[in-house]
Amino acid sequence: MDRIRLSGGNSLYGTVAVSGAKNAALPLIAATLLAPGWHTLENVPDLRDTRTMLKLLEILGAEWEREGKRVRINTDNLSGTEAPYELVKTMRASVLVLGPLLARLGTARVSLPGGCAIGARPINYHLQGFEQLGITTSLNEGYVEAKVENRLQGGSVYFDKPSVTGTENILMASVFAQGQTIIKNAAREPEIANLIDMLTAMGAEIEGKGSDRLTINGVTRLKATVSSIIPDRIETGTYMIAVAAAGGKVEIQDCVPAHLPALTEKLLRCGVDIEVGESSLKVCCPISRSENRCQLKSVDVTTLPYPGFPTDLQAQFMALMALGNGTAVIHETIFENRFMHVAELERMGADIKIDGASAIVRGVGRRGLSGAQVMATDLRASASLVVAGLAAEGETEISRIYHLERGYENMVKKLADLGADIHRISE
Ligand code: EPU
Repeated sequence: MDRIRLSGGNSLYGTVAVSGAKNAALPLIAATLLAPGWHTLENVPDLRDTRTMLKLLEILGAEWEREGKRVRINTDNLSGTEAPYELVKTMRASVLVLGPLLARLGTARVSLPGGCAIGARPINYHLQGFEQLGITTSLNEGYVEAKVENRLQGGSVYFDKPSVTGTENILMASVFAQGQTIIKNAAREPEIANLIDMLTAMGAEIEGKGSDRLTINGVTRLKATVSSIIPDRIETGTYMIAVAAAGGKVEIQDCVPAHLPALTEKLLRCGVDIEVGESSLKVCCPISRSENRCQLKSVDVTTLPYPGFPTDLQAQFMALMALGNGTAVIHETIFENRFMHVAELERMGADIKIDGASAIVRGVGRRGLSGAQVMATDLRASASLVVAGLAAEGETEISRIYHLERGYENMVKKLADLGADIHRISE
C-alpha cells in the first residue's frame, strides 16, 4: 500500500498555488448531464474523486477529454441512468447524478451510499425534496429508484439542516420543473454559488445565490457552456494551517480568501500573521524550535455550515491545537463520527479527550509531538496527520494515503516545494 513518509521540523517558505475545488468540480461535472453538447470546465483538479465522477459519466454514456486543467464533456448520447454500487461506495458524491438525470431523462437508479468513516450520512433530505417536485422514490436491492411521475412540477423544499449536496441535487432537478421551486434553509457554501453560476450560464433562472433561500423558475431548455471551477477553500485552509504548524512564511496563490472567514479569524487569534489579498494570502509564523518561540494560543472552534467554521478543516485545526500552549475545545456539529483522527494524533503524542461531540485538546507545545506510524481514515483526517507530521520531531509514516489523494492535488510535491522533507512511497 502506498505511504507518505515525512520528517518534521522544516519550516515552510515560498509560494504554493491552490487547485480547483473538489467539492465544486463534482457537482459541475454532474451538471453537464443536464444539456446535450460539448461542455467545457476549466480549472478541474485531477483527483481520485474527479476521475471517479468522470468514470460515472462515461457509464451513463458521456464522452470526455482532459487537456491540462480543462475537461470537455459531451453528453449528447446518454445511454444509462444507473450509478452502480462499485462507484458509489468509493465516492458518495455520486448521488449528485440523481438530480440532473431526473431533470433530463425523468428516471435514475443510484446505489444508496451507506455510511462512511465520518458518519451515517443519509440522503433523506434529497429524496424528500425530490418528492416535492413530483418525483417518486423507492428503495430496491440497495438502490434508490427515482422517477418523474407526470412531469416535473415546481415545489417548496425545506431542509431541516442545510445540506450541500442536497441543495445541489434539488437545484439541478428543478431547472426544468414547471413553475417555481423554492429551496428554504438551503446551504450557502461557495461551491453552490459556483454551480448556480454554471446553471445560469446554461440558461437556468435562479435567484438568491449566496442566501439560504433559492428560487428557481423552470425553463424548457439549457445549453452546453464554458464554466470554471472555483479555487479549493479547504485546500487553501489546509496550507494555512500547515504553515501555522510548521512555521515559516508562505504566499498561497490562486485562492479566494473571502471563502475562509472563520478559519482566518481563528488563526489570527492563535497568533498567526495573515495578510489577505484579493486572490492570495500570506501566512507568516516565524518559529525558532530551539527557543520554542512563537507559541500558539489555543482557540476553541465549533463547526457549522458556511460561513461558519468548516467541518472539512476540523481535523487539520485539531492537529494545530495539539501544538498549542493551552486547552482548546473543538465541537463538531455537522458529522457525528468525525474524530477518527484523534487516536492517530494520540500516537504522535497529542493529548485529546473526546466528550460526546467535543474534543478537548490540551496543547503539548510546539515541540511536543513526535513522529510515528499512523493510518489515514478519511480524506481530511489524512490531511491532519500531514499537518502533525510537519511539526513533529522525527519521522512520520502515513499509510492508506488513497484517502488523501481523493481530494488534494499534488500535496506531496506542493509541500516538498515549500521545503518540507516529505516523500510518497509507492509499493
Ligand atoms: N444530512 C441528513 N440528511 C440528508 C443530507 C444531509 O441528515 O439527506 C445531514 C448530514 O448527516 C450532516 C448535515 O446534514 O449532518 C450536512 O451534510 P451535507 O448534506 O451538507 O453533507 P454532504 O453534502 O454529504 C458535503 C461535502 C463534504 C462536507 C459536507 C459539509 C461534497 C461532495 N461533500 O457533503 O465534504 O463535509 O458537505 O460541509 O460537497 C470532504 O470534502 O471531505 C467532505 C466530506
